[in-house]
Amino acid sequence: MKMERRAFLKTLGGASLAGTLGGYSAAIAQVTGAGPAAAFPFADDKVPMNAANLCPMPSAISSAVARYAGELDVDMSDPNRRRIEAFKNDARAGIARQLGVKAEEIAVVRNTSEANNIFVQGMSLDAGDEVLLWDQNHPSNSVAWEVRASRTGCTVRYFSIPLDTASIDEVVDLVAGSIGERTRVLSFTHISNVTGFRLPAAEICAAARRKAAGLHIHVDGAQTWGAVDVNLADIGCDSFSGSAHKWYMGPREVGMLFVREAAQPNIWPGVVSVPWGDTAEPAVPGARKFEALGQRDDAAIAALAETVSFHDGITPAGIERRSREIADLLREGLLEADVPFVSSVNPNFTSSVIILSAPQENRRALLENVLRDGGVILAGVNGLRLSPHYYNTPGHVERAVAAVAKSRDLLG
Ligand SMILES: Cc1ncc(COP(=O)(O)O)c(C=O)c1O
Repeated sequence: MKMERRAFLKTLGGASLAGTLGGYSAAIAQVTGAGPAAAFPFADDKVPMNAANLCPMPSAISSAVARYAGELDVDMSDPNRRRIEAFKNDARAGIARQLGVKAEEIAVVRNTSEANNIFVQGMSLDAGDEVLLWDQNHPSNSVAWEVRASRTGCTVRYFSIPLDTASIDEVVDLVAGSIGERTRVLSFTHISNVTGFRLPAAEICAAARRKAAGLHIHVDGAQTWGAVDVNLADIGCDSFSGSAHKWYMGPREVGMLFVREAAQPNIWPGVVSVPWGDTAEPAVPGARKFEALGQRDDAAIAALAETVSFHDGITPAGIERRSREIADLLREGLLEADVPFVSSVNPNFTSSVIILSAPQENRRALLENVLRDGGVILAGVNGLRLSPHYYNTPGHVERAVAAVAKSRDLLG
């Protein structure tokens, strides 16, 4: 009873403190006062465990989106619009710092699909040049290449990694061994959305560069940015993409594209509009040439700057630690429940994306059952996909495991 009262007061304390603060500082106060879940508005019978697809924002960040949009509608004068637009550069600088790269190497775009396609459709290649892809890439980084190849004559080849591969060295040798004479691009998803397999990106980049110095290496970070404390300088890739509305827990239809300074002249954006400038050479510096998309949703982009501060307040390493702990707990629970895995359980390759085997025709029923019995929202991607994040609690994990186990007849 005493404990309950103390927890209640703590919650109250967190809530009242948060009530006096705005934006990211309110979200951080809620996290530190009453626990991560308290900062998010989701209903207890609709718990999101689908970060691989879409994350909720902390309530204070969604309020910031609405607040900035309201401020624009109240005052559309040039100084007010410029004030709100200027947050884009704060977001750019913060994202660059968190990822260990330069601000002018970051473009604020709309999502990972757009970021991938800026690279896919805009990379300078000659006919006969080869693009090497992981066969687990997202369509925006595989089908998009097929479309490009059918238009311009570059060729596309895939490498596969057996899910039962045991060691990091085996994966690195397999990828580096797939690089051929004509390979100019190597592009892979850091963490697969269809198996949850985490590639050893830094080791692959190092080995690939030893084999082919001039290679452009693109990493799709849709399942990484915001989930893993990534340092792009350490990884050593040339470009990297991500969506704020996934693991970064930020505003929707906002994304990022990193392009290393030296690689920027090789990539031509498909959309050229304001604020590119008046000549063929962009007037804007660095990666900003990739975001000359005309009028944007400046309120959402301003709230991205607050999301950067939210991550700083908890620290990217702190978010990764908790996300990992929750995912490990879930994996253990599912292994104990003896349900069939698609995902590797080898710690060299695990991530917070966990996929169980489920026939296509049973997936809808599984999702409905888990929502009804556990109040947890999952996805039916390549089986039954569970992707918990920072805001999920051990209680959510327990409910998900029990509900999945109850419907085990639909798995397999
Ligand atoms: C690996 C990967 N890349 C790209 C995307 C596309 O993301 P978005 O829909 O935010 O553009 C996804 C979406 O799930 C993904 O999993």
